[in-house]
Order: sequence, then C-alpha cells, then structure tokens
Amino acid sequence: MKLQGKIALVTGAGQGIGRGIAEVFAQEGADIVINDLCADERTEQVAETIRAMGRRVLVVKGDVSKRADVERVFDEAQKLGPVDILVNNAGIETIVPFLELTDQQWEDVTNVNLKSEWMCAQAFCKRAIQEGRKGAIINIGSIQAARVLPGRTHYAPSKLAIEALTRNISAEVGQQGIRVNCIHPGLIDTPMIRWVLESPDILPQVVAQISLGRPGLPHEIGQAAAFLASEEASYITGQSLYVDGGWVGK
Ligand SMILES: NC(=O)c1ccc[n+]([C@@H]2O[C@H](COP(=O)([O-])OP(=O)(O)OC[C@H]3O[C@@H](n4cnc5c(N)ncnc54)[C@H](O)[C@@H]3O)[C@@H](O)[C@H]2O)c1
Repeated sequence: MKLQGKIALVTGAGQGIGRGIAEVFAQEGADIVINDLCADERTEQVAETIRAMGRRVLVVKGDVSKRADVERVFDEAQKLGPVDILVNNAGIETIVPFLELTDQQWEDVTNVNLKSEWMCAQAFCKRAIQEGRKGAIINIGSIQAARVLPGRTHYAPSKLAIEALTRNISAEVGQQGIRVNCIHPGLIDTPMIRWVLESPDILPQVVAQISLGRPGLPHEIGQAAAFLASEEASYITGQSLYVDGGWVGK
C-alpha cells in the first residue's frame, strides 16, 4: 500500500473526484479528513465507505474559499493527527459568455478554484514546517488549462493559474521536504459534468476528442493522485500532469 500510515485531507470530498481520491487513498492505507461545504448524508456515505476499509476518518465542514474556515478546517483536522497530504480538489464551474460575465461571477469562481488552493497550501505548509514534517500537496486543475470551451473565461484562467501556483509553491517549500504537484483531469464522470454525460448532442463531440474514447472515472484521478502523493514520486515536484485519456495530446 502506497500511503500506509499517512493522513490525507481532501477538500470537496463529498462527491465526484474528491470522493474518488479519498477512497483510493484509503485503499492505499491512508486515514482521511473529508472536507466539504456541509457535513451531510453525502459526506457520511463517503465516511462510511472509508471506515469499512478499516481506516480512520473525520468529516470537517468548511468553505475553503474563506480564510477563517481554512484555518478552522486545519485545526480540526488535527483531531485525527498531523496531516501529511493535502489534496486541493474543491472547485466550481459556471458557464457564462465573456461579454455577460460579472465581477461577482469572476470572483466566485476564482475564489473557490484558485484562492482556496493557495490558502489551503499555505495553512498546510506553515503547520508542517513548524512541526518539522515533510508532506505532499496535489492541486486539482483542469483540462481547460489547455483547451478552450465556450463560456469559461473565468473558469479556464482559474485552472491554468494552478500550474504557476504549483511551480511557485514547490520552489519555496522543496527544501523543507514538501512536494507540490498538479493534476489536470479531463472529462470525468461526476455530478459537475452530468449534464454533458446526459446530452446526446454534446457527449459524442467531446468523446471524439479523447484518444481513449470515453470519460474517465473519479478513481482514475485518485490513482494518479496516490502515486504523486506517495514515496514512489519522491523526486517529482512542481509538475502538472494531464489525466485526460489523451485529450490534450490528441
Ligand atoms: N468532472 C470533471 O470533468 C472535471 C474536469 C476537470 C477538472 N475538474 C475539477 O475537479 C474538481 C472536482 O470536480 P468534480 O467534478 O468532482 O465536481 P463536483 O461538483 O461533483 O464536486 C465538487 C465538490 O466540491 C465541493 N465544494 C465546492 N465548493 C467548495 C468550497 N468552497 N469548499 C469546500 N467544498 C466545496 C462541492 O460541495 C462538491 O462536493 C474541481 O476542482 C473541478 O474544477 C473536474
């Protein structure tokens, strides 16, 4: 098992990719802190699945786009023990034509997708460095860092910027033994993109651009994240990896 004895905090783990990552990490031996906006039936289901694997689990609700919540989430996570791995997964997508985009829509998306990753990474690194612990951070970006889809002039920059965030943080904390990498998922079967999967017009057009000819599954992002978080990736930092079934490369 790649992550035996580690504690991982996954933001937005109540469903979708975050849930997939949390479950793969638990299979690989990690105890899990599940963060999401609410502690509800969804987070309890994820927690139950992880407990059934024999792992410890803690649900900490909090909006990671807000500084006060970020600090509280990391403080409460300590109940499970010192956090070794952070997965910055929480994100939102809205679709708005460029000429109609408002300041509020821009801020909402960049605050959740980008500012939260910076704040969580800082909260994680401060604690780890203070306590003399090494660690790993996985930032979740998007295929849209490299592909133009209509109505995403706010979403796409928030995801491309995560590459720069990843490189810059990795350069400042590498000496302290903290590795920082980014995964750009392609089309992954989650509630966020269910409308694409259920559209008989849009889905075939998208799938035609993917070399493997199908959407990915949340646990396929989890497997890549588990590798990057593990000692198997001990000399990898500052990188961005497309896990997209061959969409960007096609
Ligand atoms: N599904 C895809 O095809 C796809 C592709 C590329 C990138 N992504 C990215 O992957 C990540 C996960 O996406 P998903 O498809 O699983 O989405 P999803 O909407 O299915 O799940 C996202 C989860 O994050 C939580 N969340 C949202 N805002 C939050 C906040 N401020 N604080 C805490 N939790 C919050 C939601 O409540 C939800 O449980 C996002 O960053 C998304 O941009 C998804």
